Amino acid sequence: MARAKLAWADRPAAEFETSPAMSILVSVQRAGLPLRHDCGGKAQCGTCRVRLVSGRLSPMGERERLRLAAVSAGDGVRLACQARPGSDVELEAVMPLVRDSDAAQLKG
Ligand code: FES
Repeated sequence: MARAKLAWADRPAAEFETSPAMSILVSVQRAGLPLRHDCGGKAQCGTCRVRLVSGRLSPMGERERLRLAAVSAGDGVRLACQARPGSDVELEAVMPLVRDSDAAQLKG
């Protein structure tokens, strides 16, 4: 097991258990925490992007590399649905939890 810490722009950071046997996204979901994953974890949307602040993640596969190139992700950005922890990790969610269209509806 490993420990992970995830920070969001729009809510306080949280710590949770993770494992090399599961993706960061699955670990987040098992901890009952939110993280956008609009394609359901199939490396097709890029909404689960996280920035690695510290620690190590699994090597990047081809599907992940292609998706990140398509969304012009910067250095240190990974797909939470594809990356698995290689150590304790500290991450930042790239996308806000609320979609822009949802936020506009909430504002009226
Ligand atoms: S959930 Fe869509 S790319 Fe990860």
